[in-house]
Amino acid sequence: MHTTPALGNVIVSRHPLIEHKLSIARDRTTTTKLFKELVEEIAMLMAYEAMSDLSLETVDVNTPLESTRGRRVSGKKLTLVPVLRAGLGMVEGVLRLVPSARVGHIGMYRDHDTLEPVDYYFKVPGDVAERNLFVLDPMLATGGSAVAAVSSLKRAGATRIRFLCIVAAPAGIERVQRAHADVPIYAAALDRELNAQGYILPGLGDAGDRIFGTR
Ligand code: PRP
Ligand code: URA
Repeated sequence: MHTTPALGNVIVSRHPLIEHKLSIARDRTTTTKLFKELVEEIAMLMAYEAMSDLSLETVDVNTPLESTRGRRVSGKKLTLVPVLRAGLGMVEGVLRLVPSARVGHIGMYRDHDTLEPVDYYFKVPGDVAERNLFVLDPMLATGGSAVAAVSSLKRAGATRIRFLCIVAAPAGIERVQRAHADVPIYAAALDRELNAQGYILPGLGDAGDRIFGTR
């Protein structure tokens, strides 16, 4: 394991490949194309760690030579929930590992003045109470969006929720832990602080704009 159980329910990745890719993603000269690829790859590597304790079911398998028993993850019970927009950038990477996972969506953006989240869309599978949910959002800044996203999933009946982000700020971690102590936070990096506009320092800038080439 290359993870460090840092603060309570926070798992900060220490995998060299994640650190390497994140350094390139942070670089302001990294192109939109490369940035998007890096976010996908980091998400895939993080999911590998965040899914290390998934439960397995036993299955019968016929090899070319004989019958045996194998074990398989019950993929249909996994659900990815990207927080739009930036969370979309993590979906393909995780789906490469668990192609049969379902994908819900939560639409939310931060009001530039108040920094509070404004939600505009919510769609998850109906049987959400029986599923393992992985909320995907590259940035955990003030934590307002993450808290609101997890709250809306809990209102829909979800009980098993993990939050995967690429860069987390201390304020965001504290806010999520205060509101949702049961939700583990997986982060590729724990950064220093927020600036006056609520951006993470050193961070990587506006993740949505860098993934989609807007601004
Ligand atoms: C970003 C990011 C998070 C949120 C984090 O989204 O993807 O959802 O900000 O900030 P918070 O922790 O202070 O709530 P943004 O509002 O920029 O929307 P976008 O993904 O559509 O660009
Ligand atoms: N959202 C981003 O995209 N980047 C930050 O640094 C903070 C919030």
